[in-house]
Amino acid sequence: MNSQPNEKNKPLGTQTSAQVAGEIASENDAATTRVPFTLRSLLKMVRSGEKFACLTCYDATTARWLQAAGLHVLLVGDTAGEVILGLPNTMHTPLDFLVALTAGVKRGAPATLVMADMPFMSYQADDAEAIRNAGRFMTEGLADLVKIEVDRSFAGLVAKMSRAGIPVVAHIGSRPQHVKMHGGYYAAGKSAESAIALLDDARAMIEAGAMMLLIEAAPSEVAEQIVRESTVPVIGCGAGSSCHGQVVVLQDLLGMSTWQPAFALPTAQLGGQIMAAAKIWMDRVKSGQLGEHPYVMNDAQRASFGETLKHRNTAIPRVEPKQ
Ligand code: KIV
Repeated sequence: MNSQPNEKNKPLGTQTSAQVAGEIASENDAATTRVPFTLRSLLKMVRSGEKFACLTCYDATTARWLQAAGLHVLLVGDTAGEVILGLPNTMHTPLDFLVALTAGVKRGAPATLVMADMPFMSYQADDAEAIRNAGRFMTEGLADLVKIEVDRSFAGLVAKMSRAGIPVVAHIGSRPQHVKMHGGYYAAGKSAESAIALLDDARAMIEAGAMMLLIEAAPSEVAEQIVRESTVPVIGCGAGSSCHGQVVVLQDLLGMSTWQPAFALPTAQLGGQIMAAAKIWMDRVKSGQLGEHPYVMNDAQRASFGETLKHRNTAIPRVEPKQ
């Protein structure tokens, strides 16, 4: 094996900004020419036994990078309420906000499958309202799939959404939008009885027409059985490695969160890097070492400017505040 790292493998800090810019440009070129990854591509992967990777994403810039990395699916999760808006849980994430973020993510990653999360109270109260809201994610939000947190009692809604042409991802197991019902976050399917209930939820969702399942926080043997019985792809989030695909919150993976789920081991420490970069900026501001200044006056304009200043009344009249 060649022990000399090539330019691409060098740590970012050791490259010149021109080298980094060149790499970004070529990554972006590759991203824009990438063959779109569709639901059909995902089904092909799953059938051939290849695992697919999904991460949450809430903005176009990050989406562009994740697409360049080759991510298969991006989830615009209702966790955006916590990650972006600093809300205490996902129950407060606004619908219009999530629709707008979804469109931003799809614009940033047009060749990646984008899944939109429907927030609390956008689908629970009334089926017709749920279908209209899901439709907004597909049209205004440019989503490829919508995800709802469900159990088997939502089978009727899933069937109606499917009939309307909306590909539904049924999020089963632990449902963070039910946090108040449980007095906190919880795992699902830990007793034999609740494990069977989870299998029944999965089956009901598939029979109702769900295109995919997402299992959150459940024992791996329960998820394994769901995968064995499932005719649609299964994404795991803290449900073990047997699932066809996996999802975690991007900020957890990047080492930016204050709390870290055990199944989302960070692959980077961006929190610390952001702090270090901000400190460098503060030092630059303090010292005036801002880099080359791009805007210049020619000699004639400079002379004319100086001449005009000589005759200019520089005293700014004081405006008294109104009482
Ligand atoms: O909103 C979200 O981020 C999610 C995943 C963690 C599954 O639903």
